[in-house]
Amino acid sequence: MSLKRKILELQKKREQVLQGGGEKAVEKQVAMGKMTARERIITLLDENSFHEYDMFIEHEARDFGMATKVLHGDGVIIGTGTIFGAPICIYAQDFTVAGGSLGLMHARKITKIMDHAMKMRVPIIGINDSGGARIQEGVNSLAGYGEIFYRNTTASGVIPQISVILGPCAGGAVYSPALTDFVFVVDKISKMFITGPEVIKTVLGEEISMEALGGARVHSEITGNAHFFAESEIECFDQIKKLITYIPWNNSKKAQKYEVKEPKVDQYKIDEIVPGNPKEPYDVRDVVRAITDDSDFFEIQQLWAANMVIGFGRMDGQTVGFVCNQPLVLAGVLDCDSSDKAARFIRYCDAFNIPIVTLVDLPGYLPGADQEHAGVIRHGAKILYAYSEATVPKITVILRKAYGGGYIAMNSRHLNADFVFAWPGAEIAVMGPEGAANIIFRKEIMGADDPDKVRKQKVKEYKEKFANPYVAAAKGYVDSVIEPEETRKLLLHAIEGSQNKVDNKPYKKHGIPPF
Ligand code: HXC
Repeated sequence: MSLKRKILELQKKREQVLQGGGEKAVEKQVAMGKMTARERIITLLDENSFHEYDMFIEHEARDFGMATKVLHGDGVIIGTGTIFGAPICIYAQDFTVAGGSLGLMHARKITKIMDHAMKMRVPIIGINDSGGARIQEGVNSLAGYGEIFYRNTTASGVIPQISVILGPCAGGAVYSPALTDFVFVVDKISKMFITGPEVIKTVLGEEISMEALGGARVHSEITGNAHFFAESEIECFDQIKKLITYIPWNNSKKAQKYEVKEPKVDQYKIDEIVPGNPKEPYDVRDVVRAITDDSDFFEIQQLWAANMVIGFGRMDGQTVGFVCNQPLVLAGVLDCDSSDKAARFIRYCDAFNIPIVTLVDLPGYLPGADQEHAGVIRHGAKILYAYSEATVPKITVILRKAYGGGYIAMNSRHLNADFVFAWPGAEIAVMGPEGAANIIFRKEIMGADDPDKVRKQKVKEYKEKFANPYVAAAKGYVDSVIEPEETRKLLLHAIEGSQNKVDNKPYKKHGIPPF
């Protein structure tokens, strides 16, 4: 056979694979408002940058009628490409081929591209659209998932791992994403559950829709399993592209530096954002936007545990991770979910050489039986652990309240912060003045002819004595009490001066964080 004919044969073989699960299955996919796996890859990556591997993989399953089934690409597409020029490894499960279910060869393709990403030290993106372990392949599919989970764990903190959920994902198809750094979901399209509604009906006799069980909103607002919520696949891909600009290719690099831009928001009016009355709410994101380059802020997990705000911005052109109490929601208290949210993000920034700026304004940990029984001791400890363990530059600005355990937890000097600044209105104390006066002056208040008058007097005394930043500044716990308009200038100085920070911890195999 001449080479020309062999080339024609190759082209024909390629054409066949490109059909995925066939016309009908593709029509069904499109009718659900979903792109095909190949369209997704092409849309996400830079134009003409995608190169596919293992296109002609064939499954080896023989049971349950599988011997005669042709599954193109075994239901998954793998390859390499770029996003804004940054190299990327990628896989996308093809739901039109056996529901994107994962058999042995399907898993081999995924582990191959994961290994390649690790060898080349570049990010891996997984587009998941799969019914989970391929039932017909039994333990071979389970083995496949196990090998993916193992690699997810090995790669954790070495290369960025991004998961995109673009279909009904069950079983292993959700556990691998759960081990990765960022999970993206799309309204009405993404579903995540360990077992689908059919199994739930069989086992528990309960009826529930896929959307109510594990839709995009459920995971963005209730469970916290998803980090980014989008209205459409296109919006989701734009979010991924934006994320890629903030993170480094691997843990030995820093994120790309961009041109320095002054904030669009007037940084000299930053004091007007934060009300003087410590009980009045405001949106801490406005403070972030008054100090970041171009007033840019890329928020993560926006819809979950909203009393804590986390995300990326840039200062001096460099990526910075922001961890902020949000006085707009529950007065910015720390609770189980907000502690989990902050702790994981702090560990991400630390793993990938991203300095952390912490903005503090909180009344402390949320009291109550609900939180105690939900394990606020264990969850709250995560944030203490994460800050203490982190060795990237850690800078704190106390904007207003910093009470009790909340003061310690939010990157206080005692957890080895590098810089702690406080605005002049900061109140640093064991608890708020009202609560404190009621406890320490209880006898005097109760015994007084006019308890209300004495209570007010004692609250005033307490405020004057403790509810300010100067007691902490006098002990060196606060490095500098600053004017609000100096915040960006001092943060830029602190970040620049921390470029070569060294913080060697004692050798250990690993710590035992309160997972
Ligand atoms: C083999 C599967 C499959 C699977 C779907 N298909 N899931 N084939 N193994 N796990 C096939 C279907 O038979 C069908 O094939 C095609 O994919 C499309 O599926 P539909 O059911 O028609 O689609 P839909 O109605 O949209 O429902 C999607 C679904 C449902 C919710 C994902 O298919 C489902 O519940 N699947 C099983 C999910 C599950 O329980 N997986 C857990 C696996 S255990 P045809 O030929 O008819 O088009 C697991 C262990 C991991 O993953 C361990 C983790 C620790």
